Amino acid sequence: MCGIVGYIGHREAYPIILKGLKRLEYRGYDSAGIALYDGNDIKLSKTKGKVADLEDKLEKEIKTNGSLGIGHTRWATHGVPNDVNSHPHYSNSGNLVIIHNGIIENYESLKKELIKRGYTFKSDTDTEVLVNLIEDVKKNENIKLGKAVQIALNQVVGAYAIAVFDKNKPNEIVVARLGSPLAIGIGDDEFFIASDASPFIEYTKNAIYLEDEEMAVVRRKKGVKIRKIKDDSLVDPYVQELQLNLEQIEKGGFDHFMLKEIYEQPSAILDTFRGRMLPNEGIIKMSGIEDNMKTFLNANRIIVVACGTSWHAGLVSEYIFENLARIPVEVEYASEFRYRNPVITDKDVVIAISQSGETADTLAAIKLAKSRGAFVFGVCNVVGSSIARETDAGAYTHAGPEIGVASTKAFTTQITVLTLIALRLARAKGTISSSEFRHHMIELELIPEKVKKALESDAYVKTIADIYKNSNNFLYLGRGYNFPVALEGALKLKEISYIHAEGYPAAEMKHGPIALIDENMPIVVIATKKGHYEKVVSNIQEIKSRKGKIIGIVTEGDEQVKALADHVIEVPETIESLTPLLTTIPLQLLSYHIALMLDKNVDQPRNLAKAVTVE
Ligand code: F6R
Repeated sequence: MCGIVGYIGHREAYPIILKGLKRLEYRGYDSAGIALYDGNDIKLSKTKGKVADLEDKLEKEIKTNGSLGIGHTRWATHGVPNDVNSHPHYSNSGNLVIIHNGIIENYESLKKELIKRGYTFKSDTDTEVLVNLIEDVKKNENIKLGKAVQIALNQVVGAYAIAVFDKNKPNEIVVARLGSPLAIGIGDDEFFIASDASPFIEYTKNAIYLEDEEMAVVRRKKGVKIRKIKDDSLVDPYVQELQLNLEQIEKGGFDHFMLKEIYEQPSAILDTFRGRMLPNEGIIKMSGIEDNMKTFLNANRIIVVACGTSWHAGLVSEYIFENLARIPVEVEYASEFRYRNPVITDKDVVIAISQSGETADTLAAIKLAKSRGAFVFGVCNVVGSSIARETDAGAYTHAGPEIGVASTKAFTTQITVLTLIALRLARAKGTISSSEFRHHMIELELIPEKVKKALESDAYVKTIADIYKNSNNFLYLGRGYNFPVALEGALKLKEISYIHAEGYPAAEMKHGPIALIDENMPIVVIATKKGHYEKVVSNIQEIKSRKGKIIGIVTEGDEQVKALADHVIEVPETIESLTPLLTTIPLQLLSYHIALMLDKNVDQPRNLAKAVTVE
């Protein structure tokens, strides 16, 4: 995924675009670039590296007061990250300049055709092909830029959000979207273009989100004209008032977005159930469920599709749905499901979980499930994202923007939404009594305060991080609801500290991983009082007799594990199904502190991007 940003209006474009790129850097950070119109010509500067590297370069290269420009922060798909492959890209004539987020799948055949017609290419990118295709159409048919973009896009197979302008028509930017997000901020005689609203939130709260297969010509002083790319029909712009505020998207006093997002979990979880759950009245109400209750109640099974951390949340939900609502659940990696020719019927409900709502494999799994007649329900964080649009119905997690690449509050809010759904279905099916139902709601209502309490272990977790930061390997063990938490703990450590870590169901240890244990192996064991406690204690004893170093995640007041473990981190007591919302917290903090002590880039770990929009 990449971030795109643009401006046309009466202010200096450069600072707006540069700041916008910094805010969008979570979308990709292997190269960045800006093109500005200086009243006469295009000034373009781009570089491999972060937006900060671009800023250094820009100080030397671009000196302009232009009020029109576009910028890009890249996560490479075609062509390695280097200066030449960075965006923006010129057309051969130098008249057009483009930025692009997505993939043009048929770029090779288009490129061959263009080469035959005399075009040359400097980069390895699909984007340079697209800008030359637009130029070719424009030249051959002697038409305006908007029309040329439309004709060119009708020849393209793939996904895109683009912004392009012509130096000979410096009063307009043409934008389009298919499969990648694109928002247009509407100010007073000025317009902002961006992958999400964060680059323009301090200038305007009014925005248009383009739908797939729509394009818009954004004209200085004149406004925005939207058309369908396929049939050229005009679309009435729908201007939304944004709820997002700037504070939400900045670090809020924390050193890193990841830490801020870990600490936001009490309020994020509260926001997730607020208005949906009324324990006193004994009510859970979610429109996506109410409107489709029959489908859920008639379902033979639920299939969860997701990737990474969202897949771990799906695994937790398997225990929740099966225990509470007695609905069989299968949890699938979206990337495997989409290519496995799975048996799906119209009696299946598929739940797709995705923070970003843009994950390519999850999107493809949804399309496959729909094509085979399944009802697909989305659990997404990003409002208006591709997955949120593609699913038949859904429930947002309301976690707020998650900028740190390592997912934290998305995980706990996904589990919260899935718990609400399971409880609602369980009540409708009569698989839990009204008193159990109420008890669960009361316990869930207490979770934000308990997460706050769990966060108090931060300083102590830091001391543990200091002891084990130089370990080469970690094991994470848990059972039942906390087995997926063990997987998630290991994933968090791997992705931001680059230390090898594995998660296992605690009882599986004796089937292989136990061979790894010696005095150098730290083992994080989730051993809360509820759920297989005695069995996990036996596993701890097995580790202890092999001299492994034990970091126990235990319920407040625990004595038994304390007597065995090298360290224990306490979390408040709750009912078993909600323990993942608490046990996850110290594991997030542990990975954060270790990564920081090892001087790693916590918010932007190497090789990773916030939304994986390619397979
Ligand atoms: C891990 C992480 C990834 C994502 C995965 C799915 O911290 O962030 O494993 O969970 O790429 O992303 P979404 O949820 O956006 O579909």
